Amino acid sequence: MEILTTLAELKESLPTRERRKRPLALVPTMGALHAGHRSLVEKAVQDGGDVVATVFVNPLQFGPAEDFERYPRTREEDIRLLESAGAKWAFFPDAEELTGEHTGFSITHPVADMYCGAHRPGHFSGVLFIVSKFFHLINPDRAYFGKKDRQQLFLISRLASELAFPVEVRGVDTVREEDGLAMSSRNRYLTPEERLHAPELYRMLNIAREHYAPKSQADRIDLASRLVGEMKERGFRPEYVVFVRPDTFLPLSAEDPPETPAILLVAAWLGKTRLIDNIDILSAHG
Ligand code: PAJ
Repeated sequence: MEILTTLAELKESLPTRERRKRPLALVPTMGALHAGHRSLVEKAVQDGGDVVATVFVNPLQFGPAEDFERYPRTREEDIRLLESAGAKWAFFPDAEELTGEHTGFSITHPVADMYCGAHRPGHFSGVLFIVSKFFHLINPDRAYFGKKDRQQLFLISRLASELAFPVEVRGVDTVREEDGLAMSSRNRYLTPEERLHAPELYRMLNIAREHYAPKSQADRIDLASRLVGEMKERGFRPEYVVFVRPDTFLPLSAEDPPETPAILLVAAWLGKTRLIDNIDILSAHG
């Protein structure tokens, strides 16, 4: 695996579209890599791609009171994981070169201000800016993102298609710990007691899915608010609990027929750690 740091090295090492024997597959990350990230690289390799992974803690997507400074940085372990997962190139850009001249361009979308975006103003603008920049600089044929960050996956898919980036965005299933907790670089912030308790979140999502027999919008709102209550009883501080349509990412509405597929999205704090998760409901895949 080749390690790249400057834009000049990136340009020199990555094959142009004309010279590619296999599709170039991009896996963007912020490092502190775990088995969830590994599965993105492995999927990209299985799909027949030559994989370039990026590792960059993007300052543009962190709010002033957020964890940019203390976000875990584990460069040596990250290199080992990417290499063993089969990546060909790992790009560790220099922050000054990549985002140093950012003067405030902002990519917005109505959905970027909802759910996570409502609680993290500017977050998705920062994500969409950096992902657009990687698309331009790397010019991949495919790019892989996790369903763990479902709103991010939706926005990046729309970004690629509406701005006509010549890249196919592929979503990869959430990788979980044995007890069901969705893997996340931020799980290491949990205390041992919180870590034992955290899988309750996914258990509640599964129970909600079993109870989802939507006869009306009122039933759904009722189910979502019951879930908020149960989360609070179990020591979580929920930010949002919402059923959204996979195609628009807007909340299910009274006009949607009961068989409309939905995604149940949640974000909740456990102590000082913010957890997000989601589950498909009535989807073609169950
Ligand atoms: P990061 O949180 O490092 O995640 C990088 C990629 O790994 C994202 O596509 C994310 O959805 C995926 N991922 C994280 N946990 C996962 C899990 N348990 N199972 C499957 N996939 C998982 O998301 C970002 O970084 C940034 O916003 C980024 C897209 C790199 C832009 O800065």
